Amino acid sequence: MEENLENTDRRPQFGNRYLEDETEVFEHNAWDDVEWTDELENEAKLKILKNSKITLNSENIHDYENNAHEYWNSFYNIHQNRFFKDRHWLFTEFPELAPNFDAPERVQRDDIKSSQTIDINPESIFEIGCGVGNTVFPILQYNKNENLKVYCSDFSSNAINILKESPEYEKRCHAFVLDVTIDSWNDFVPFQPNSLDIIIIIFVLSAIAPQKASHVIKQCFKYLRPGGLVLFRDYGRYDLAQLRFKPGRCLAENFYVRGDGTRVYFFTQDEVRSIFIENGFKEVQNIVDRRLQVNRSRRLKMYRVWIQGKYVKPQT
Ligand SMILES: C[S@@+](CC[C@H](N)C(=O)[O-])C[C@H]1O[C@@H](n2cnc3c(N)ncnc32)[C@H](O)[C@@H]1O
Repeated sequence: MEENLENTDRRPQFGNRYLEDETEVFEHNAWDDVEWTDELENEAKLKILKNSKITLNSENIHDYENNAHEYWNSFYNIHQNRFFKDRHWLFTEFPELAPNFDAPERVQRDDIKSSQTIDINPESIFEIGCGVGNTVFPILQYNKNENLKVYCSDFSSNAINILKESPEYEKRCHAFVLDVTIDSWNDFVPFQPNSLDIIIIIFVLSAIAPQKASHVIKQCFKYLRPGGLVLFRDYGRYDLAQLRFKPGRCLAENFYVRGDGTRVYFFTQDEVRSIFIENGFKEVQNIVDRRLQVNRSRRLKMYRVWIQGKYVKPQT
């Protein structure tokens, strides 16, 4: 089984830790907002040069595209709800999801300006590519608003079945199967255009063929109400997960297939910005989150890169 790099996208619960003295690097398991030197960038570029040659034939590449939902179905068949961990860090990064929740889990990030937090008290939240509910269930737990409706969808029917069977699935939640790349969502979604307060897209756009990403964001724009917000987080260019790919797994530039047939793209900040801006959104936040994770016993340094964004549908 491939190493689970997904679950390491977690911030410490009680504040950030910065590496000021390089000699202390192996004294903790992780450091926040590490400096990215030219040397690191050049090393990363070299690794990508080696793993980016496309050796798969077009039949294989089409199979991964056409049967993407089947590969994810197999993934959830194997891992059930054990792979991804509940994303309790959500409320540090995206306080908008539970504005009245005040608990130690909510850490104030000192690198994020308050102007990047939107004053919104959501009554309708929609998550795309929700998997088995690792985002939805913490929201239902921490946002106590009785009128809140949390819609969530995934194109893996296995994921949706597992989510719906969970004891945490409750009446404020509505889960359904949807492939977000289809031309029109109209016949499949239980809400109207211009109606949603928040749409969440976490580690999902990377699983979609890059040429379809813009269409997905266009649909999000359509269903958000004016003033509504998209919360985005995903893999960044040069993340450890990208550098670790062996040659032969590349499908297109910065787009790879894992051993289990699921795919992953690695974004730059500019790419994320363009996809949203070209579809009418206004940018509130677009940050790169770099973390150094350390394997202290093997004395390994692992650089993680995530892109996080918040985009608003303008009022007019
Ligand atoms: C890396 S997982 C992330 C799951 C969840 N968002 C989380 O953060 O725990 C990617 C998810 O996107 C879903 N997905 C991929 N392509 C999709 C598509 N075209 N339409 C809907 N869901 C999709 C997969 O089934 C999978 O559940």
